[in-house]
Amino acid sequence: MTKNTPELWDSVWESDWAPEQDKYDLAKEERGIRWRRIERIIREELASFEGLKVIEIGAGAGTNAALMAKRSATVTLVDYSSKALERARHFFAHNRLEANLLREDVLALPDHLLGGFDVAMSFGLTEHFSGDDRLAVNRAHFDLVRPGGLVFISVPNKWNPPYRIYKLVAQALGRWKVGEEYPYSRRELARLCEQLGVRQYRFFGDSTWGSLRFVNPLRIASRLRGTAETLDPASLRPERGSFLDPYLAYALVLCGKKP
Ligand SMILES: C[S@@+](CC[C@H](N)C(=O)[O-])C[C@H]1O[C@@H](n2cnc3c(N)ncnc32)[C@H](O)[C@@H]1O
Repeated sequence: MTKNTPELWDSVWESDWAPEQDKYDLAKEERGIRWRRIERIIREELASFEGLKVIEIGAGAGTNAALMAKRSATVTLVDYSSKALERARHFFAHNRLEANLLREDVLALPDHLLGGFDVAMSFGLTEHFSGDDRLAVNRAHFDLVRPGGLVFISVPNKWNPPYRIYKLVAQALGRWKVGEEYPYSRRELARLCEQLGVRQYRFFGDSTWGSLRFVNPLRIASRLRGTAETLDPASLRPERGSFLDPYLAYALVLCGKKP
């Protein structure tokens, strides 16, 4: 299995995107149930986004950080792939938003960043680590926030069948492009919290029904044909959640509070 390296991610982030695509992608995330759940928790726990210092690590385009920047948070993005940071620069510019971009390895973050944020988060980062690095990459989020700060870690769920089927088939066909990826269970995340001394934590998910996209034959065919999506944000409807999401959704999100 291909290792998680900056070169691998440079190849993933190679292509550029049109401004319309970036505006559409931001609007799509904003109508997604995962973002709406994150937004609700931040408003409940930290009152508002205004003045919040937020960091997204392994950020890629930095979509969720962009939604926080849109609500007046001060945003920092960290990635060790220069192509990912280039992608983020375009994504933020196309959406008329600002971010501080840092090229750093999340396993060797500079001291001046530690403890300086109200919120630290990642989406699709920590499943690419194994062995001792798996604990270390999760710890990095808690090291970045002040006591009482919030951490969001969104990872693929081991118990989401459509994703597991899609991954197996993509790997068998040689179409899996993102190297080593080990999904999580809630039990593993809870154990990590225990090891990190984090006692206040909860889980939520994105949409379980939405994960059927991984096995939707029409969608797969249109992706193979490279058929473009309609890029009209007005066509997007708010995604609906269900009681299954914290258990069976594709994205399993840990929200922890630093003691
Ligand atoms: C699957 S992408 C996720 C990107 C984005 N959060 C998203 O959801 O689209 C994982 C990102 O983590 C970055 N990454 C992986 N290991 C890293 C490390 N040790 N330090 C910094 N960034 C890392 C990669 O360069 C890549 O951009």
